Amino acid sequence: MSRYEPVPDGADSSDQTTSGIDVNHPHAARMYDYYLGGKDHFEADRVTAEKALQSWSAVRTGVRENRAFLGRAVRYLAEEAGIRQFLDIGTGLPSANNVHEVAQKAAPDSRVVYVDNDPIVLSHAKALLTGTPEGRTAFIEADLREPEKILTHPTTKDVLDFDQPLALLLVAVLHFIPDRDDPRTVVRTLVDALPSGSYVVSSHVTPEHDPEAVHGLEESYCTAGVPAQARPMEDFVQLVFDGLELIDPGVEIVSDWRPESSGPRPSAVEVSNYGGVARKR
Ligand SMILES: C[S@@+](CC[C@H](N)C(=O)[O-])C[C@H]1O[C@@H](n2cnc3c(N)ncnc32)[C@H](O)[C@@H]1O
Repeated sequence: MSRYEPVPDGADSSDQTTSGIDVNHPHAARMYDYYLGGKDHFEADRVTAEKALQSWSAVRTGVRENRAFLGRAVRYLAEEAGIRQFLDIGTGLPSANNVHEVAQKAAPDSRVVYVDNDPIVLSHAKALLTGTPEGRTAFIEADLREPEKILTHPTTKDVLDFDQPLALLLVAVLHFIPDRDDPRTVVRTLVDALPSGSYVVSSHVTPEHDPEAVHGLEESYCTAGVPAQARPMEDFVQLVFDGLELIDPGVEIVSDWRPESSGPRPSAVEVSNYGGVARKR
């Protein structure tokens, strides 16, 4: 596997050779990394991210709170729900509290399959493929819009046992699947493949609390060729959780989903991301 070193902040990336990585157009994974203060982004990512920040100055708060929600949800599943298998689609670049780290800390025999369609995530997969000797972690480069390919991929079949409950993670990824790509069929195909007792974790950007800012963000992404569609709570719930049993407290602004400290939390306007966890009966 080749490793591609990103251009440092401020450098010109136009003459870089890549391993299938298009540095001249922004990518969601690298923009997310930029918001999170990581180092794996290029000029095109930074320019579009800065435009998005001009519209919605609190993006970083939303991103950080989303990442913390992901950690709490995985901890809940591993510690309280007894889940040992995770299919994480739209993994993102390695960051703090990657899914396998959180899950295997609670249950070392946890197995995780990571899926992302951005080759730069693949180039960093080594960092995701560490883990406990008892557990397993694997990575597939695949597109969420082709769920059958993910489900029938030899790695998925090798690492995950679809006769036992597992968790499907669609965290901060469905807003990159606009309605024209039929996200409902995508989600249904994945959920239908889960055995009873499985869980679905998802979060999604919403325009409800700060429409102007979030629509400005959508526009910055779409203009730069990154399809993005924020959805109100009702559409998000129907898209992902229809027919599933929502775990308490239901769908909430991500920072309000089972917070672990009683300290002050950012407002819904700043966070503008809903999240929830549901169980398949
Ligand atoms: C905002 S990041 C979320 C990362 C992580 N799930 C989290 O919540 O911290 C979205 C990720 O989804 C990936 N992604 C976007 N569209 C995708 C698609 N159609 N198929 C697979 N991955 C996709 C991006 O490459 C990026 O890594």
